[in-house]
Amino acid sequence: MKLAFVIVAIAMATAAGLTPKESAACGKLYVEKCGRCHKLYKIENYPEPAWNMWMGQMLAKSKLTQAQTKQLTRYLQSLRASHAEHEAGGASTQP
Ligand code: HEC
Repeated sequence: MKLAFVIVAIAMATAAGLTPKESAACGKLYVEKCGRCHKLYKIENYPEPAWNMWMGQMLAKSKLTQAQTKQLTRYLQSLRASHAEHEAGGASTQP
């Protein structure tokens, strides 16, 4: 299940402008760090302010390096962007 999610996520993130290598690394990070305590929540199921609030709390729990934090944030936002393509506005903005 998780693997299928990651493969789909990598494909979408690659389409959104991350290199395949970055996407793969982020997908792995997401599963290893965020999937350690609970299921993998999907960013597109949360309104942006709610997600950002959770991310603030979860990043503190996840013990990521600054570089990993940046990459993972970008990666997850690219997933939201690819899910939001059909909606007005589409891509989300970087904080
Ligand atoms: C150390 C364990 C731990 C790690 C690591 C962790 N989480 Fe969590 N997460 C929790 C707990 C516990 C909750 C329940 C809310 C609370 O008590 O803070 C939660 C809740 C959440 C929620 C809200 C779920 C809801 O109720 O809708 C989201 C979204 C989330 N986490 C995403 C992430 C992401 C993304 C990462 C990786 C960056 C991550 N988590 C890493 C423990 C963790």
